[in-house]
Amino acid sequence: MQLIVTKNYSELSRKAGEIVCSFICGNPNGVLGLPTGSTPIGMYKYLVDAYKNNKVSFENITTVNLDEYLGLSKYNKHSYNYFMWENLFGKVNIAPKNTHVPRGSVIFCQRECHRYNKILDRNKINLQVLGIGENGHLGFNEPNTPFDSRTHVVSLSQSTLQANSRFFENKNAMPRYAITMGIADILKAETVLLLACGKNKAQAVKDMITGNCCEQVPASALQLHKNVIVVADEDASSLLS
Ligand code: GLP
Repeated sequence: MQLIVTKNYSELSRKAGEIVCSFICGNPNGVLGLPTGSTPIGMYKYLVDAYKNNKVSFENITTVNLDEYLGLSKYNKHSYNYFMWENLFGKVNIAPKNTHVPRGSVIFCQRECHRYNKILDRNKINLQVLGIGENGHLGFNEPNTPFDSRTHVVSLSQSTLQANSRFFENKNAMPRYAITMGIADILKAETVLLLACGKNKAQAVKDMITGNCCEQVPASALQLHKNVIVVADEDASSLLS
């Protein structure tokens, strides 16, 4: 893994934005795997500015998102679909038909997983951007998810419910289940770019890079990948020697 340590969040966002921009310029028909969460927001701002300044075009880019809460429609402001439209899709020239996010409002979840796997099979991810959970999760692949997993339904762990409850004014309204692409889907990407920011991610970053490669730490699966770039701020990398 290549580790890039940045001073702070704004430097991390700029570095991540530069990497994604240069990928898009070199691969104007490429496929991007995209995350949600607070960490990538600055990177999305950088990409929107780059688009507005004619430095990058999303015209022929395809995106596949990592995950979505189950039970939320795409119009719900807590849904990841809504997040993507607010932070990126609605602000750049991407074709809506080229954006893919798991559907959280489906009744037949297994059918949705199957549909999403087919999308992933048709669109090989060139660059997968990731955040990381405090418990080492990737997307919503919680600890003990098999490394050969594909898109599946997840019962969110207590740690994730606790960490993500800050986005919901009413904790009881927070979904308990989600759909996520699997670890195997993430590992198939040509390049992985993982972003980590803040002291609360330091243990997960350490376990991911220097810990055992094991299913208790989903992010440690990235040790099996040949082309991973980690961009972490000083706080998130503070436990690495
Ligand atoms: C959620 C998402 C993950 C994300 C994680 C970290 O659980 N499903 O994809 O990496 O949050 O989010 P944050 O960047 O807000 O810490």
